[in-house]
Amino acid sequence: MAEFQAVAKTGDIPEGEGRAFAVSGRMVAVFLKDGHYHAINDSCPHMGASLATGWVEDDQVTCPWHAWRFCITDGTWLDNPQSELKSDCYEVRVVEDEIQVLVPGRPEPDASASDE
Ligand code: FES
Repeated sequence: MAEFQAVAKTGDIPEGEGRAFAVSGRMVAVFLKDGHYHAINDSCPHMGASLATGWVEDDQVTCPWHAWRFCITDGTWLDNPQSELKSDCYEVRVVEDEIQVLVPGRPEPDASASDE
């Protein structure tokens, strides 16, 4: 079962920037924008650049490699919002001075899929 995991302390992520953290076997980009934290996959769906290092403006991050833009609140690919391509997004909360992210774990292997 997925649980919130602490990734950083408040103050570790400057306003208007992102930072990448390893959570449940994947890299998650956490952004602070207008006092609110948001989390999406750090790996750009195009070619895997770190979105945490992208340019943040309004509710979007621009990938540092080829400038594709993603919404930091819901992962939508803003250059083509009708596309099914998007970034996963995750719930974020602050408990005291901890920034915590809820990331589903990797799926369990299907026990019914044995070779027999
Ligand atoms: S790797 Fe992000 S736009 Fe190409």
